[in-house]
Amino acid sequence: MSKQRVLTGITTTGTPHLGNYVGAIRPAIAASERDDAQSFYFLADFHALIKCHDAEQVHQSTREIAATWLALGLNADKAIFYRQSDIPEIPQLCWLLTCQAAKGLMNRAHAYKAAVAANLEAGEDPDFGVTMGLYSYPVLMAADILMFNANEVPVGKDQIQHVEMARDIAARFNHHYGEHFVLPEARVDEQVAVLQGLDGRKMSKSYGNTIPLFLPEKQLKKHINKIKTNLLEPGEPKDPDDATVFQIWQAFATREQTESMRQAFADGIAWGEAKRELFELVNEQLGEARERYNELMEKPQYVEDVLQSGAAKARAYSEPMLEKLRAAVGIRPLV
Ligand code: TRP
Repeated sequence: MSKQRVLTGITTTGTPHLGNYVGAIRPAIAASERDDAQSFYFLADFHALIKCHDAEQVHQSTREIAATWLALGLNADKAIFYRQSDIPEIPQLCWLLTCQAAKGLMNRAHAYKAAVAANLEAGEDPDFGVTMGLYSYPVLMAADILMFNANEVPVGKDQIQHVEMARDIAARFNHHYGEHFVLPEARVDEQVAVLQGLDGRKMSKSYGNTIPLFLPEKQLKKHINKIKTNLLEPGEPKDPDDATVFQIWQAFATREQTESMRQAFADGIAWGEAKRELFELVNEQLGEARERYNELMEKPQYVEDVLQSGAAKARAYSEPMLEKLRAAVGIRPLV
């Protein structure tokens, strides 16, 4: 039997933080070691342009994210690791799919609807500031997925709708032109922690409450010291399940370490002490990767070469696939 194809994209707009690591990068790297699956992981830099019009930031983020995944041990000989924009077949497929995707389907996309709702709320024109990029974002995402006939698409909850739209568009294309596409399935891992940020809300760039993944030690310590706590004094029992410090601890600790920290909370550990231990734990787990990351950030040519060899592997799939699809829609040589 051929291997399951697992595919996911990372939009290149920010600096990776602990929440990205725990919620997406760590499980994806672990999954890429499976022998019964072939993973396709890519830097979604075309998607970045939808949200971010700062060229330098898109470029810098691409560098940082590529270095991050490699520093954390992604095996680029096993996983196919590439940059979306290095696969010229993707925007071509995007057009073929655009011509099958119902406009009404796009009208229902959450991201677009949220933008419209915010405009109406502000008394603006409903489409104020909405680009065609934002509007047809789900079609580009469908192209990413269908290009490689991915079976499984690990994503966060906010992306489930997009994967369903990819299925919809694929089914429509298949119905019209024959069975070319596998219908992909979103996979949302419920085991994976959604990390809390400094203020206790979900750690997210849009809340400005993140702890960047590869901060220098001193800065990491500073950030951890900023995690919000209550006013309980040393010696007073504390509720671990109501504490961001404990929640982050749990995402990095073994089961035994988690249990002993739970006990320490019951015994009234001081917040300062709990934070110091959290710093030690995180720093120890990320220390080596941080060194590799710093090295890789100094060696962009090496990272570029890895991405280029990933693109060559990806194109071994996308080129013949696109040729077949072009022929299917009637775009082929005259003789
Ligand atoms: N839109 C996804 C996000 O913002 C990133 C992405 C782009 C993606 N293309 C994809 C995820 C294809 C899965 C499959 O998180």
